[in-house]
Amino acid sequence: MEATVNVNGVVTDGDQAVVSVFDHGFLYGDGVYETLRTYNRQPFLLDRHLARLRASADRLALEVPPTDADLETRIRETMRGVNPGGEVTVRMLVTRGVGELNYDPAACPRPTIVIIARPHSQIPDTVLRDGISVVVASVLRNHPSSVDPSIKSNNLLNNVLAMHEAIRQGAYEAILLNHRGELAECSQSNLFAVRDGVVVTPPLNAGLLEGVTRNFVFEVGVDIGVPVREAVLRPADLEQVDELFITSTTREVIPVVRVGTRPVGSGHPGPIASRLLTRFRDRARTLTRAPVAG
Ligand code: PDD
Repeated sequence: MEATVNVNGVVTDGDQAVVSVFDHGFLYGDGVYETLRTYNRQPFLLDRHLARLRASADRLALEVPPTDADLETRIRETMRGVNPGGEVTVRMLVTRGVGELNYDPAACPRPTIVIIARPHSQIPDTVLRDGISVVVASVLRNHPSSVDPSIKSNNLLNNVLAMHEAIRQGAYEAILLNHRGELAECSQSNLFAVRDGVVVTPPLNAGLLEGVTRNFVFEVGVDIGVPVREAVLRPADLEQVDELFITSTTREVIPVVRVGTRPVGSGHPGPIASRLLTRFRDRARTLTRAPVAG
């Protein structure tokens, strides 16, 4: 696995990077993370990812001592030699750190900060052209009063179990329902539908991660004159929608053409997802282009 890794400020090849087995991130999944990517080799929407990282950490009473500027420097140092000329995906983790085997945060005096930089693997054009299939998982999204899905935590078993169901059925992603039986999100992405020219996505109180890409899609919708709104969606709605698509940092916008064995809409990728993706990429490249001197 090609990767360059930064553990608490020390950069090594991925196969040299080590974290203690007494790290509470390893022992308990006690930590938070972000996945971001570059366009034009510039970290995209870094401020939003860092804000969410800090918000997630706050929910766990986990301190993130470095400043945003320091974290940005670490990210840039870590990605420097990775995939020259190409794009990079960065996963940044902050864990409780190393300490005694108990749940007391005081047991861990110093958080562990890990940055993993890898070549970005672009979603193949064939996937965008053909669309993907998803399943509705039997495992429910965590109740917001349990491990709140709005925390981007390293405690990912809920997501892993849902994705196992998708893999077993040969699907690309799994949709998770919340405790009320509404659609919430997918195992690693947010979910959107198109009905009568309006793009809809489950509201935050459905219990989901407030995706950076999800929020960006609201802005891209304004750009192309397509309304994007929050709406409660239920499994039966999947039979009525014209289009379905997923969004995430690494996946951008991917059309969904099948849920289980049922086709979505025409059974082919729809025009609105495609327009959103085109404009999304334009905007991402423009926002990361170096300003012209003078
Ligand atoms: N996953 N919902 C879940 C459960 C996710 O794990 C993710 C992101 C998203 C989309 O969020 P964003 O648009 O900010 O990437 C929604 C990342 C990519 C990951 O797990 O690596």
